[in-house]
Amino acid sequence: MHIKLQRIEKIYRDADGPVVSGVSYTFEGGTFTALIGRSGSGKSTLLNIMSGITQPTSGQVFYDDTDIFSISDRERSKIRAQTTSTIFQDYNLLPFLTAAENIELGKRISKSRHGKISPQQALEQVGLSKFADKLPNELSGGQCQRVAIARAIAVEPDIIFADEPTGALDEKNSEIVVNLLKEMANNGVTVIMVTHDPFIAAASDRVIELCDGQLERSLDVPSAIAILEVFGHRNRT
Ligand SMILES: Nc1ncnc2c1ncn2[C@@H]1O[C@H](COP(=O)(O)OP(=O)(O)OP(=O)(O)O)[C@@H](O)[C@H]1O
Ligand SMILES: [Mg+2]
Repeated sequence: MHIKLQRIEKIYRDADGPVVSGVSYTFEGGTFTALIGRSGSGKSTLLNIMSGITQPTSGQVFYDDTDIFSISDRERSKIRAQTTSTIFQDYNLLPFLTAAENIELGKRISKSRHGKISPQQALEQVGLSKFADKLPNELSGGQCQRVAIARAIAVEPDIIFADEPTGALDEKNSEIVVNLLKEMANNGVTVIMVTHDPFIAAASDRVIELCDGQLERSLDVPSAIAILEVFGHRNRT
């Protein structure tokens, strides 16, 4: 499923000016895109607009041919639940549910159209088959993030939004997590990931940069070195 942004602008209430402005871009189905930019450049705001959580002040977001802000809140919630999955820096697992139960709940909430993948199968895919009965506080940060990805796998979304999914992880776990996202894109999921880390961004098909709320430039088939060369000097915070 592709996502098309048309002239997106966001002005928060009581703010001086727009946080995001004039953003038009198409994320092709099954591609893995990294969104980079310095702190405060509007990355999370744009991601939340794309995922249908935040209403833009103006502009349109299309999932294939559906303009998601022109339909009712109820319809939008339904489309979001059925077609998207979001992964956050802090995992968003419920602390009183086990790994398997967190995944089961995620599946129920999403009312997944597919629903063929069981929590156990999803845990197997992220290498955590032995951890189904563990609570989040019995797992490491990297394991928790893999449970969050297993939850997304079990939902079988068309689109994954990830906001700094490796922000709380060490190098090894970051690599595991980003490779899982890459694999999902290879299987046809449209993956959009916010990151500060050029080594993480290098796993994507394309890097795009937000600068003061505007899309500045992009880099195809990125390498960490090229990302540092092209964007590095301005992404220091
Ligand atoms: N709900 C809100 N109300 C008002 N202003 C907001 C709100 N959310 C974000 N902002 C402001 O919008 C700007 C962009 O914030 P955003 O969180 O999108 O940036 P970011 O690029 O994700 O930053 P970071 O890399 O630090 O996560 C910031 O100046 C922030 O203070
Ligand atoms: Mg952010």
